[in-house]
Amino acid sequence: MKEVYQVPASQSLQGDVIISGAKNAVLPLMAATLLCRGTSIINNVPQLDDVDTMADVLRYLGAKVELQGSRLTIDTRECDGYQAPYHLVTKMRASIYVLGPLLARLGQASVALPGGCAWGPRPVDLHIAGMQALSAKVELSHGNIHAHAGRLKGADFTFPISSVGATVNLLLAAVLADGTTRLFNAAIEPEIDNLVDQLNAMGAQIFGKGSNTLVIEGVAELQAAEIDAIADRIEAGTYLIAAAITKGKLTVKQVQPSHLTALIDSLTATGALVYCEDDSITLDAQRRALKPISIKTGPYPLFATDLQPQWMTLCVSLAGVSQVTDTVYPERFQHVAELCRLGANIRVKGNTASIIGTPNLSGAPVKASDLRAGAALILAGLIATEHTDISDIHHLDRGYQNLIGKFANLGVTIHRHASHTTDCQTKTTPLLSLCG
Ligand code: EPU
Repeated sequence: MKEVYQVPASQSLQGDVIISGAKNAVLPLMAATLLCRGTSIINNVPQLDDVDTMADVLRYLGAKVELQGSRLTIDTRECDGYQAPYHLVTKMRASIYVLGPLLARLGQASVALPGGCAWGPRPVDLHIAGMQALSAKVELSHGNIHAHAGRLKGADFTFPISSVGATVNLLLAAVLADGTTRLFNAAIEPEIDNLVDQLNAMGAQIFGKGSNTLVIEGVAELQAAEIDAIADRIEAGTYLIAAAITKGKLTVKQVQPSHLTALIDSLTATGALVYCEDDSITLDAQRRALKPISIKTGPYPLFATDLQPQWMTLCVSLAGVSQVTDTVYPERFQHVAELCRLGANIRVKGNTASIIGTPNLSGAPVKASDLRAGAALILAGLIATEHTDISDIHHLDRGYQNLIGKFANLGVTIHRHASHTTDCQTKTTPLLSLCG
């Protein structure tokens, strides 16, 4: 059944939000369990559709997967499958994370090509080139990546551009390769550090954590381990921006403030007060005249592309002119047309959106084209008059745990109900389910 979120025009958000574990950390941690035969535990796991999809991929490969609260148990003792089929990969592109570990442990992997995404092509050429550098033979046929190897061989590999996913996959392959692998220009997102910690706890020998040169001394086998997923910096950032947009005051708890430095700097530059403690961040925008601040996204520690749509909503809400440039995904602007339906004044040229602040948005039916675009529309709905109905909210189920409950704690009642629009009005292509 298609459902919509109805977001009411809201007062200033007030209160605390406990931030969940990061989906983009948990997905690689789950794939890493394929590297051993044993029972692995991942704590602080959010209940999200993407986690369910990765669990289904692992089950398809033969694992037993059980989520109890936020504790995920994965038993890979009888896990010998090596094929990740299209019907699963098409639900979530991070399914490609099984390529590296399957190849490394079983010597073969067959994974459907993920294809594009709502905001354009998202190639996996670097994942493939990396496997080839480790001596795998890779063929593409019938929409699948078929990879074979005896034991992978350690090698030097330089990423031509920073890629989170390709760094994950190369790490997951190189830990069991024969000899030394050196990864240059590797991604340094906190989710990569979380994975390195897990792999080292399993017995891997990875050096250089936190830097963009990772050295991996391959080992013959790995054991199951227990790991805590880090907090979701994008979820935390979304709520902080929501507080700024509504001129409220809120604290995000159980987060790592150092993971959000670029956002905190930008929020501070708007004129909001931001206070950090060991594991919390408070934003106070009450009675403050904020000004819009231009941002440019980039690989960590630069401003996260996954907060770009939400930031654009903040710029829309503030009087003044600003620009939002996305250097990671130059076409990630699907939310612009929907924000304009609410009255925003935004022009896109190349990878830059120019925004003239329009503090008086008016609620209207809009459509979430992907996860973060959906988040941007929720935030816009908070400051629009009347209410805003957001459709295609399955995208939000992929990445925001207990969204209704968390907003309720902040004083906003968001309703979720069946959509009254016809299929014809809400039809999307399968590609649109792929972002994340
Ligand atoms: N790229 C290539 N070839 C590749 C891989 C990437 O050209 O083989 C390009 C991409 O097209 C992009 C750039 O490299 O222009 C960076 O992409 P990256 O590989 O870092 O992205 P990803 O691993 O596919 C992850 C997150 C995304 C997040 C990006 C960037 C997960 C599961 N997904 O994607 O998260 O936007 O990193 O930070 O970790 C989201 O959570 O909403 C989301 C989309």
